[in-house]
Amino acid sequence: MKIAILAGDGIGPEIVAQAVRVLEALRSDGLKFELEPGLLGGCAVDAAGEPFPEATRRLVTDADAVMLGAVGGPQYDTLPREQRPEQGLLSIRKTLNLFANLRPAVLYPELANASTLKPEVVMGLDILIVRELTGDIYFGEPRGIEQRRGQRVGYNTMIYSEAEIRRIARVAFKAARKRNRRLCSVDKMNVLECTQLWRDVVTETAKDYPDVELSHMLVDNAAMQLVRNPRQFDVVVTGNMFGDILSDEASMLTGSIGMLPSASLDDRNKGLYEPIHGSAPDIAGKDVANPLATILSAAMMLRYTFDEEAGACRIESAVKKVLASGYRTPDIYEPGTKKIGTVAMGDAILANI
Ligand code: IPM
Ligand code: MG
Repeated sequence: MKIAILAGDGIGPEIVAQAVRVLEALRSDGLKFELEPGLLGGCAVDAAGEPFPEATRRLVTDADAVMLGAVGGPQYDTLPREQRPEQGLLSIRKTLNLFANLRPAVLYPELANASTLKPEVVMGLDILIVRELTGDIYFGEPRGIEQRRGQRVGYNTMIYSEAEIRRIARVAFKAARKRNRRLCSVDKMNVLECTQLWRDVVTETAKDYPDVELSHMLVDNAAMQLVRNPRQFDVVVTGNMFGDILSDEASMLTGSIGMLPSASLDDRNKGLYEPIHGSAPDIAGKDVANPLATILSAAMMLRYTFDEEAGACRIESAVKKVLASGYRTPDIYEPGTKKIGTVAMGDAILANI
């Protein structure tokens, strides 16, 4: 197996370094893979003039899995859109056909007080958001900003084919089967035709999964229900843009966006694994970033691409033990716990692997 390592920008290199240490510890224990570094995002713009250079394209096409830190930084925000780091991320998703984005939002009991919601609202929270990742308004054509009758107009296209909806629905139904067998599909069918089709196709697909209980929710209501009573959700499936927004919202229920991993998969379980948070340039290089989302993304890699459930569980239980021992990076710190930095958090995980 070959893993491409794309550390990216901002805190990316610091947090990826800790996840790499964890992977290497498992390798010396018998897991077989090689790691190969590459450039994506702002660092690629600086070195090669584009966010997703040809060398990186070859590297990730050959690799079985990709570990990604985060991309972006304020110095790139004024570049033409196609040269911005975020474009590198969107291109790699599209190039590798990573249409299924799994974003688990799990509350570790030790962090119940780190959430901005009351502990009794979030205690026991365990949601899986399945976000479609290669379609929708993110990629729809036509798009642009142009002059019309003397003023600028901006426009994008929200579009889904039934094949795109069906394949992500199948991923979500299968995931629900491995959990509590409840699936909530989120759309805006009261206004948008595109999502009327979404609802129709998800409903048709449900016939193949009679053992899974399907419900539908409008996206504005879903945003509200996530903070009102988040434990009503088991698996949530939704389109690219709604999934982007709802997954950030769900992350805060767990205490910190620094805790949430993600997997982006194609139809053969090749995957890209990354924390859901960004590059946090304001705290980069200070040894304060939380590496746990990236370390937990490595666990997802073992589970989904390598089919190494045991290795995944070892990482996840190390995270639980470290939290239970009271170690916290600043984002999840509360009085009475022990504040440590990025590298020390990596040390603590390794000591418990
Ligand atoms: C995410 C991010 C990206 C997205 C950005 C950085 C392009 O917010 O992975 O959720 O919108 O998909
Ligand atoms: Mg996002």
